Amino acid sequence: MRDTYVHGYGSRENERLQDQAGTLVELLHADTAYPRGSTVLEAGCGVGAQTITLAQRSPEARFTSVDISADSIAEARRRADEAGLTNVQLRQEDLFDLPFDAESFDHVFVCFVLEHLSRPVEALTVLRGLLRPSGTITVIEGDHGSAYFHPDSPAAQAAIECQVRLQAEAGGNALIGRQLYPLMVEAGFDGVRVSPRMVYADSSRPDLVDGFTRRTFTAMIEGIREPAIAAKLIEPSTFDAGVRDLHRTTESDGAFCYTFFKGVGRRPTTAP
Ligand SMILES: C[S@@+](CC[C@H](N)C(=O)[O-])C[C@H]1O[C@@H](n2cnc3c(N)ncnc32)[C@H](O)[C@@H]1O
Repeated sequence: MRDTYVHGYGSRENERLQDQAGTLVELLHADTAYPRGSTVLEAGCGVGAQTITLAQRSPEARFTSVDISADSIAEARRRADEAGLTNVQLRQEDLFDLPFDAESFDHVFVCFVLEHLSRPVEALTVLRGLLRPSGTITVIEGDHGSAYFHPDSPAAQAAIECQVRLQAEAGGNALIGRQLYPLMVEAGFDGVRVSPRMVYADSSRPDLVDGFTRRTFTAMIEGIREPAIAAKLIEPSTFDAGVRDLHRTTESDGAFCYTFFKGVGRRPTTAP
């Protein structure tokens, strides 16, 4: 059965992913660069929020970016054209059933995808098979259990918990960041290193407050109001108070913390 993508594919979600990518570029991408002539598979590229950054930062690498959603690929193609990228090929594909030969890529990049899959180890194992021996995989995931803030708010925590539960019911795992290391090891990668990337936003960093706390994280929680209430996970008044309290953390005396996890591993030279 195909996993359900809990955030949906609406234009608001596209904007959220774009804002997320723009705000977090340095934090998430500063140490990722692919050499001239290397081939990179980006699995689950969505509307291309990471694709544009990856391709601009490694202009002499060749990217193949795939997503299961035809609409997302169309939008990613539009954005790649608009950015004038010539080193990206975009294709609609299911990452569990990719039409590429074994060992045909030097690198794989996956961002915010495993959290939506019920079989993340299987996904990583499939991707490992597409890597040349010693090829690398880079995986970035969030972990909603890492969200804490001032002023604290039980209602805000309850609204966030709705997201965790909805994602679990759809087959995913919104707490997957902390599990990246064991998942990558289980999938047969060597030399796995995971590094936490913490976003900390207070009013001395207005771009992060707006781009991350308000337009990325709080927007994501706001986006699940209807399904959370329909599933009777929360009272509407508690949910609304939670969202208000998340916005409250963006005021001059507020602060918001969230941690992403970035894992890098290598395909062994001999199959495990
Ligand atoms: C949260 S989005 C992340 C998009 C992009 N990587 C980013 O960081 O902005 C997750 C994406 O994974 C895609 N996806 C989910 N299951 C997939 C599968 N089996 N094959 C390919 N893409 C998949 C969804 O369509 C969605 O675009």
